[in-house]
Amino acid sequence: MRIRKKKWAAPELSVCDFFVKNPEENAGKWRDAFKKNQPLCLEIGCGKGGFAGQFALQNPDINLIAVDIKIDMLGVGRRTIVKLFEENGKTQYDIDNLLLVNYNVEQLDKIITPEDRIERLFINFCNPWPRERHKKRRLTYPRKLEMYKSFLSPDAEIRFKTDDDGLFEESVEYFNECGYEITYITRDLHQSGFEGNIMTEHEKMFSDEGKKIKFLIAKQK
Ligand SMILES: C[S@@+](CC[C@H](N)C(=O)[O-])C[C@H]1O[C@@H](n2cnc3c(N)ncnc32)[C@H](O)[C@@H]1O
Repeated sequence: MRIRKKKWAAPELSVCDFFVKNPEENAGKWRDAFKKNQPLCLEIGCGKGGFAGQFALQNPDINLIAVDIKIDMLGVGRRTIVKLFEENGKTQYDIDNLLLVNYNVEQLDKIITPEDRIERLFINFCNPWPRERHKKRRLTYPRKLEMYKSFLSPDAEIRFKTDDDGLFEESVEYFNECGYEITYITRDLHQSGFEGNIMTEHEKMFSDEGKKIKFLIAKQK
């Protein structure tokens, strides 16, 4: 996703209580980085923060780390999340179950380790990278699915959704190749009867265009 430079993003994040300035320092200790010790989930490629904000609001008894490689995206995310909390009668100081992290998923195992025991991983509308030579950049590419195992708890779920048919079908193969079991799959999430879906910015955009949303849940065998 392209985003215009936001000069205000880094300064606002630098004084934000739920933005992590030095994520390396939390490696193996993410559970202590939150106010409450409760189940820990991770969203990668969180973009403009709509999913993370809604998830945090709806699940005060779950902690969420939301990661994106682009600081400007996280700046927009911070504003989105604060607005969501304020619309629900809270303030930014009530945001104690969500942390924003600026990091490249390619190197995520440097900051999230087996001790962190992530219980659910969300991959929402990652870039499809359709060209053969770029596919290894996909957040579902086998090398990454193997890396995620290093910090997922044994019964953790990966929840993956996309509008992109090629990415979805090839990702099904990647999950199978890497020894994950697909426990739920639909190629039309919004007509599937699946309950509790939280729409992301891209999901709204693509479904408004009439595209069907593909979704799966995978677990390690
Ligand atoms: C297509 S957008 C989807 C955003 C959001 N999840 C949604 O559904 O609306 C993909 C996001 O992944 C982020 N991203 C891409 N590659 C990444 C990487 N290697 N590490 C972290 N974030 C990445 C991009 O900056 C962008 O915000």
